[in-house]
Amino acid sequence: MRNKNSIFLSCKFIITCVFLSIVLVSCKKRSVTVSDYSGWTTYAGSKDGIRYSSNEQINTDNVSRLAVAWTYCSGDKDTNNHTQIQCNPIMVDGILYGTTPRVKLFALNAATGLQKWIFDPALEDSSARKNPASFFKVCRGVTFWQDEKGENRRIIYGVGSKAYAINVADGKPVTSFGHNGYIELTENIDREAGTYNPYISNTTPGIIYKDLIIIGMRVSEEADAAPGTIRAFDVKTGKLRWQFHTIPHPGEKGYETWPDKDAWKKLGAANCWAGMSLDEKRGIVYVPTGSVGGDFYGGIRKGQNLYANSLLALDALTGKYIWHFQTVHHDLWDRDLPANPNLVTVTHKGKQIDAVAQISKHGFVFLFDRTNGNPLFPIEEKSFPESDLPGEEAWPTQPIPALPEPFARQSFGPGDITDRSPEAHREMLERFQKVKYREMFTPPSKESSWIFPGYDGGGEWGGAAVDPASAILYINSTELPWILTMVDKVKGDMSTLKGIGEMNYGKYCIACHGPERKGNGSSFPSLVEIGKKFNDEQIMNLLGSGRNMMPAFKQIAESDKKALVAFLLKSSSGNLHTKGGPALTRESASESKNPEQKHSILDDVPYTMTGYNRFLDKEGYPGIKPPWGTLNAVDLNSGKLLWKVPLGEYPELTAKGIPITGTECYGGSLVTKGGLVFIAASKDGKMHAFDKKSGKLLWEAQLPVPGYATPASYAINGKQYVVIACGGGKIGSKSGDQYIAFALPDK
Ligand code: HEC
Repeated sequence: MRNKNSIFLSCKFIITCVFLSIVLVSCKKRSVTVSDYSGWTTYAGSKDGIRYSSNEQINTDNVSRLAVAWTYCSGDKDTNNHTQIQCNPIMVDGILYGTTPRVKLFALNAATGLQKWIFDPALEDSSARKNPASFFKVCRGVTFWQDEKGENRRIIYGVGSKAYAINVADGKPVTSFGHNGYIELTENIDREAGTYNPYISNTTPGIIYKDLIIIGMRVSEEADAAPGTIRAFDVKTGKLRWQFHTIPHPGEKGYETWPDKDAWKKLGAANCWAGMSLDEKRGIVYVPTGSVGGDFYGGIRKGQNLYANSLLALDALTGKYIWHFQTVHHDLWDRDLPANPNLVTVTHKGKQIDAVAQISKHGFVFLFDRTNGNPLFPIEEKSFPESDLPGEEAWPTQPIPALPEPFARQSFGPGDITDRSPEAHREMLERFQKVKYREMFTPPSKESSWIFPGYDGGGEWGGAAVDPASAILYINSTELPWILTMVDKVKGDMSTLKGIGEMNYGKYCIACHGPERKGNGSSFPSLVEIGKKFNDEQIMNLLGSGRNMMPAFKQIAESDKKALVAFLLKSSSGNLHTKGGPALTRESASESKNPEQKHSILDDVPYTMTGYNRFLDKEGYPGIKPPWGTLNAVDLNSGKLLWKVPLGEYPELTAKGIPITGTECYGGSLVTKGGLVFIAASKDGKMHAFDKKSGKLLWEAQLPVPGYATPASYAINGKQYVVIACGGGKIGSKSGDQYIAFALPDK
């Protein structure tokens, strides 16, 4: 965006600053015990992670007049629709900070959308020109910090494995932080190099406690994932201050629960990719974790797998363990905890209790006393069947909360198969019958089982919003079954280059791109005709850098990568000339063990799954009856589901007279004192405002592409804004590069 009116604007900016400093000074006098929800200074709105705005200028009476206040176009979306924006922007002192499709960090005047500066991490990286797609990364938000004097103000944010500190005054790296402006999260990992996949991505922003930034990270989903240690860094210098091993080391609490005493040396993940919340007064950080690496086979990680799939309460200053609750034992279904928990005070049995609520992919809300981890409603350990896969030892029970009521359907039968048309019904019923196991928590099998809600929830990274006045939690949910089928791992013919490539494909790629390399029709692309799109060098680059949700594969030996590329490009002849290096012959490929690459734990995994398969009919609609996406209100005091409404529509189905179906959704909601729940998230690309009491849709606006992100709300000079990133780029949507702010028109 050009700064045409810069003189006018800078005047306006100075006035805004003066005004804001007055506001700030007067704020300082107020009591610090009551949280301030008037701004949006952190990811999820506030450190208690509740996505709540106390602004009430926009309310149920006037929301119908809401209009676009400004639009910011960063201009850096990918024309092949590979980029997304999942960022929940923050607003500090009149400036909005967020990221663009290529993870550039911007500072905008939050009232006008005019750009103050932009930081481009690609300009800092000499390899960027060769592989621009390596900057198509997921960044869900940014973190602001200033010292006690209000100086040293900076934004910390993730660019792949780096966490940059950028000076808010000029948009330049803070050179006293880490390596001249960034910390490298692949460093300081307590594990022998070469024993794990170093892929790490700083997707969800860290959280500040005093002078610390506490950071989680995304890692690989495979058995060789990097350990998901939770780390705190000095926010001023970038020095490591504490770490908490989510797979305990000898002598640490929880170590005794692992039958394999070397588990901590071999296994990884149990990471926090979803963001954390902080009880600032008590100094407790709440950390939701995902499963141990190797999502669908646990024979290499026997036991309950602490502290995977757990809500952890840690001392924010030291990283010391306080309590935990494991929401899935020995996870075999990729049931990572998908969002930061919500800290809220509830009325329970007549008493006020400071609670923490954690949503899950399977549609549960787990509710605890946040001081000690005691569940507020009973959580039953229910028995589930054994695994029929030799080598697997499924955990016999799983925790099921009696209340709050789940916010997603959790099982379905033949009566729930789509009746959109007789043909679709017949086709989907036939496919339904081929899947043997229907019950949640049935262990993965060669005879297939349903994952319902799907791998992407139920609840997902958009997280929940909570109104602190009513303790009502708002959560959107996708209701789409996915099919999980296990197969024996591919054993390629190791005497041919193609065979070696095939074996490596089976080892590293099959889970996402499928056994026939066809992908899953939506989030995971087909690689069948990849040669028409990319040459060998480009694929090698992509494997080195990753792109969006495609992880990097730095751990695969160069020669194995070349064999893989040969397999993908079908050049199965004896000699393969890659542009990047010497001709690779069959012989050299088969002798090709990288001396640094030791025995990989991946070699111990006997099965793979056949890919992330959504249950969609030929025309792309879900194979079950609607709703396919919903917005829900859950009363955390009583545990009751108050309302559930469809979220999003397929206009062509609505036009046929079919009631609104809801769609798959990504990104979350926010709730306001003005009585509204704002959410985009749906596939139809609309921004919505619902009445928080009734769930009635009061207003909607068409966005240029879907807003697969969570909105933010704040007020400047008394005017309330609601901002949403429109990045599209998922589930077949076009990519976009805009942030759009809505406000009431001036008159
Ligand atoms: C965790 C899931 C996952 C795994 C494992 C994975 N990929 Fe991908 N891959 C993706 C996703 C998601 C994309 C799309 C990325 C995007 O949206 O930019 C992708 C894209 C690609 C593309 C580009 C396709 C296109 O049309 O632009 C290639 C090539 C590719 N992957 C190759 C591989 C190879 C080879 C492996 C194994 C070494 C592999 N992938 C493993 C998820 C995965």
